Amino acid sequence: MTGTTTRESLHIGLSLAPTWLNGAAWRREDSNVEALFDPAFAIDVAQRAEAAKLDFVFRPDALFVNTAALPSGPAFASLDPTLLMAAVAGATRAIGLLTTLSTTFWPPYVAARQLMSLDWISGGRAGWNIVTALDGNANFGLDAMPAAEERYARAAEFTDVVRRLWASFPGDAVLADRETGRFADAARVTPIDHAGAHYRVAGPLNVPRFGAGRIPLVQAGASQAGRDFAAGVADAVFASSPDIAAAAELRTDLRRRAEAQGRRPDDVRVMPGLSLTLAATRAEARDLFAETQRGADTRRAIDAIKAMVGLDVTDWPAGRAVRSADLPDAPATVRSRTHADLLRRLIERDAPTVAELLVRPEVVGSAHWRIVGTPQDAAAEIAQWAEAGAIDGFVALPGGSTGSMHMVLEEMVPCLADRGLFRTAYGGTTFADHLLG
Ligand SMILES: Cc1cc2nc3c(=O)[nH]c(=O)nc-3n(C[C@H](O)[C@H](O)[C@H](O)COP(=O)(O)O)c2cc1C
Repeated sequence: MTGTTTRESLHIGLSLAPTWLNGAAWRREDSNVEALFDPAFAIDVAQRAEAAKLDFVFRPDALFVNTAALPSGPAFASLDPTLLMAAVAGATRAIGLLTTLSTTFWPPYVAARQLMSLDWISGGRAGWNIVTALDGNANFGLDAMPAAEERYARAAEFTDVVRRLWASFPGDAVLADRETGRFADAARVTPIDHAGAHYRVAGPLNVPRFGAGRIPLVQAGASQAGRDFAAGVADAVFASSPDIAAAAELRTDLRRRAEAQGRRPDDVRVMPGLSLTLAATRAEARDLFAETQRGADTRRAIDAIKAMVGLDVTDWPAGRAVRSADLPDAPATVRSRTHADLLRRLIERDAPTVAELLVRPEVVGSAHWRIVGTPQDAAAEIAQWAEAGAIDGFVALPGGSTGSMHMVLEEMVPCLADRGLFRTAYGGTTFADHLLG
């Protein structure tokens, strides 16, 4: 059974998003929010993640700012993720650096060059989170986002071009032979002459390949097209899996699809986002969670439900159950099929009340797995998911406070190591060594 196969050791990444400032958490005295755009902020967290021996730190990214959300939080305002990772590279030695580049908006030649540059700058620690993006078209001369099928068709061609560009200039084609005066074996630096449905790229790349390893590919987006794309190319999938059944279903399905495309099931690792609000006691963790939810924007939650499943609950009483019979026909276009399907599934399965629905991760938390408790509680639940064969690891999204984020790295991760579920030392110095080795 491919779905129930478990991994000996989990893979763990940490989002530098920074989720521990979400909600009202940035207003806390100790949030250090003033340093939000200072690279030292991300460097400090990355060094802590490296001390915990995590596989990677990760920057999700968007190419627009949500001005409607800006009065109450960062709303996607952030430094360029790849430049930020270059700064983190100089202050760390082993941890993987996963940056996000959209296949909808970037030219593949520039993406290939930036990623290979980051690999040189970091000594083999670059990784690429391949996204087809949710928004931002107006910043790139497009009246609307291309349809999902079109975005994934572009993503497949884009990724193929990037990989061929990386191969177009082998590292050992550089001879730098002082004696003979030959700088490079130019015959081995070859054009790719790509002419496809979306891109025409001659190549070769103007950066040689770094080392003998390769840059890990991570993908996000779990529609049918997204899954097929991931099964073909991704080393790991950043998943939205709010419960163990959703994670297990995705993992079984991706393993099957990978096999169908001639890969091994283990080649695609499923790593759900995991929102963690941790404190020394359960009561403190619950209080912290409630504190960060205070003043939550109900209007935005209602709008999100409307956009995802077409249902307007504006005038509904808080205690009224939302049932599958209430759902109108699915909207023809949604920003993310992954998120719309997860919300629909929740309503069909649980018939939550309006009040319950408005705070669910499917509505307000990108449908991520959520744990509120002690570090030991979190480690126990993660062990349960791992033993059930539902995950290969997770991407930690610490929430609530800076202290909660530190607790993830300094207490929860060691608990997982004590259970034999995570490494206590790095076995190599490249991202591929940690994730693929
Ligand atoms: C867990 C998760 C994380 C994502 N992260 C990003 C991101 O950082 N930047 C981005 O532009 N899009 C992001 N996306 C959007 C996806 O790349 C994709 O465009 C979107 O989910 C639509 O594809 P789908 O229909 O397969 O869900 C993310 C999607 C998921 C599910």
